[in-house]
Amino acid sequence: MSARVFACYNLKGGVGKTTAAVNLAYAATASGGQVLLWDLDPQAAASYFFRVKPRIRGGSKQLIKGRRELQDFIKATNYPGLDLMPADFSYRNLDQYLGRKKRWAGRLAELVAPVRGEYDHVFLDCAPAISIVSENVFRAADVLLIPLIPTILSLRVYERLKSWFGKHPEFQVRLLPFFSMVDRRRRLHRDTMLDVHRDHPEVLSTSISYSAVVERMGEFRAPLPVCAPGSESSASFAALWREVQGRIGQEKREITGFPDGNRPI
Ligand SMILES: Nc1ncnc2c1ncn2[C@@H]1O[C@H](COP(=O)(O)OP(=O)(O)OP(=O)(O)O)[C@@H](O)[C@H]1O
Ligand SMILES: [Mg+2]
Repeated sequence: MSARVFACYNLKGGVGKTTAAVNLAYAATASGGQVLLWDLDPQAAASYFFRVKPRIRGGSKQLIKGRRELQDFIKATNYPGLDLMPADFSYRNLDQYLGRKKRWAGRLAELVAPVRGEYDHVFLDCAPAISIVSENVFRAADVLLIPLIPTILSLRVYERLKSWFGKHPEFQVRLLPFFSMVDRRRRLHRDTMLDVHRDHPEVLSTSISYSAVVERMGEFRAPLPVCAPGSESSASFAALWREVQGRIGQEKREITGFPDGNRPI
């Protein structure tokens, strides 16, 4: 087993990264997968949702320096097959700790490498930024899942990011954006989505609607299939996960030329 690494990332804040990380990680266990979610954000929202104390003993400095390994801190959640690498408030200094290392660029990838063999899927819930930590994430992850609110400003941020990746071919990560917090009653949202799908075919067709149900996650501290089973939001995340897997399967088929996509890349 060698996990694929998905980072829920956007340099914009409050767009639904953590909501997606929690629900997609949960969805990935539903088909029997072994899943690890690393809460990389000092805000510790993903740790909160999974009722895990946001603390790693000795702080993240030891982790970056190479004195401790990820496996030393991983915790089980209440859900079979789903483990969590907790947040820690010291993650606010991650840029600093990484910047002090000579070979800083691949440190996160090095930390994730040994756990790839133990899981089917690894998710990284990232803080909103484009920083040394982010560049590490772009090297550690295979796929960036990017929630986009269908507004002009949010879209401009995505276009800047996409063009930045165009100028930095050293990052091999695949971008899979999807619409988040969509209000279909708003014409601006509907029109923006049409334009974006036309100009950016990589954007997934499954979108997540704005819904009060999502706020229940905070009250119940649980993913949507647990706190709001049967809800449209819960079904949307399940559909989003299926589409993500479909896109990746398609990528494998394109690369291998084998119709089942099962041959190694
Ligand atoms: N589809 C949705 N409908 C309604 N509210 C939502 C939806 N998705 C997220 N929210 C709410 O919006 C807020 C921000 O969501 P979330 O924490 O997932 O974003 P984020 O991108 O991880 O934020 P940050 O950049 O601070 O890490 C939360 O209060 C969350 O409950
Ligand atoms: Mg978040």
